[in-house]
Amino acid sequence: MTNLDEKLTFKRGLTLKNRFMMSPMTTKMSFFDGTVTNDEINYYGLRSGEIGAVITGAANVQDNGKGWDGELSIADDKFIPGLAKLAANIKKNGTKAIVQIFHAGRMTDSGVLHGVQPVSASAVAAERDNAQTPRAMEEQEINELIENFKKATKRAIQAGFDGVELHGANTYIIQQFFSPHSNRRNDEWGGTLEKRYKFINDLVDGVTEVVDKSGVKNFIVGYRFSPEEYENPGISMDDTMFLLDKLADKPLDYLHLSENDFKRVSISKDHQDKTILEYVHDKINGRVPLVGVGGVSSREDANDVLKNGELIAVGGQMLLDPHFVVKILSGQDSSIHHTLSLFDTDALMISNGVLGFLDQKMPEKIIK
Ligand SMILES: Cc1cc2nc3c(=O)[nH]c(=O)nc-3n(C[C@H](O)[C@H](O)[C@H](O)COP(=O)(O)O)c2cc1C
Repeated sequence: MTNLDEKLTFKRGLTLKNRFMMSPMTTKMSFFDGTVTNDEINYYGLRSGEIGAVITGAANVQDNGKGWDGELSIADDKFIPGLAKLAANIKKNGTKAIVQIFHAGRMTDSGVLHGVQPVSASAVAAERDNAQTPRAMEEQEINELIENFKKATKRAIQAGFDGVELHGANTYIIQQFFSPHSNRRNDEWGGTLEKRYKFINDLVDGVTEVVDKSGVKNFIVGYRFSPEEYENPGISMDDTMFLLDKLADKPLDYLHLSENDFKRVSISKDHQDKTILEYVHDKINGRVPLVGVGGVSSREDANDVLKNGELIAVGGQMLLDPHFVVKILSGQDSSIHHTLSLFDTDALMISNGVLGFLDQKMPEKIIK
C-alpha cells in the first residue's frame, strides 16, 4: 500500500513530495480582465508549502472562453508577470505549481462575454436554466483554439509553472467536443466517437509537443476528464473507456478523474460492479498515474483513494483548512477544521463568489 507521504515522479521528471494535490478551484478573485490579484496570490500561498502540488483554478486561453467573472486568464502575454508571481508564491518549500487551462465553450453567456455569443462544437444549448445557444465554430476557429492552448502552455512555462492541466472535464469546451450532446458535427470533428475524439487527440498532441520541443526540464502535462453525462445523448462510461485507452498511451504525466464523490457508482447499468474510480484505474492499468478526487476530508478517505489511484486531489477541505495535508502527515488529524464560520472567511481568504458556491455544495459545513 502506498503511503500518503510517498514521493511520486512523473514521466517528464517532476517529483511531488507527497501524494496530495490541491484540486483546481476558481477563486473568483481575478481582476475584471483576468489578471491575477494580490488577494489571489495570498490565497494560494496560504495553501501551499505542505501539499505536493497546487493546481490553480481554470484560466481561459482566449477571450471568448471566459466562463465567469473573477476568472484567471492566460490568453495574452500581458498576463505573464502576474502569473509568474503566482507560480513563485505557490512554489514554496517544494510545492509544485500547475495551472489549469480551459475554454468554457457553451458554458458561459453573452453577459460574461460583454455581448459576444458563446461558441461550441455545435449550436446546441446546454440543458440548464437560461442556457444560451452557442454558435458552432468554423474549422479555422477550432484550429485557432488548439493554437491558443499551445500558446497558453508556452506562457505557463515562461511564468515558471511546473505544469499545465488541460481541463477536459466539467462540461467545458474540451468535453463539449467529445460529447454527443454538444457535438452534432458531420465534418472531421464529429459524427462518430472517433471523430468526436479528434479535438482531444490534436489538442493533447499539440500541447505535449510544445512542452517537449521547448527544452524546459520537468514540466508536466495532466488531463482532467468527467466520466459520464446525464444528458441523452451524452458521454457514457463506454465512451470514457475508449477515451482512457487513447489518453493512457499519450505522453501525458497524469490523468485526473473529476468527481464530487470518489465513491460514486456509474449511472450505466453495465458499470455498477465497482466504483467509477476503480473502473478508470483498472482501464488505465498503470500506464499513467491517476488522480482521484471528491469528498476527501480525512486520512481514511485519502487512503481509500490511493487504493484506486496514485494521487489524491483535495478541493473543499483545502478551503476549510489550508493546513489539512500537514495535519494528516504529522498525525494531528484531530485538529483538522471541518467547518467554516462566516467570521473565518477573511483569514482563509475566501471570496464571496466562492463562499456562495460552497454554501450550495456543502451547506452543512458553513456555520452562519
Ligand atoms: C469553489 C470551487 C471552485 C471550483 N473550480 C474548479 C475549476 O476551476 N476547475 C475544475 O476543474 N474544478 C473546479 N472545482 C471542482 C473541484 O476541483 C473538485 O473536483 C470538486 O470540488 C470535488 O472535490 P472536493 O469534494 O474535494 O471539493 C471547483 C470546486 C469548488 C468547490
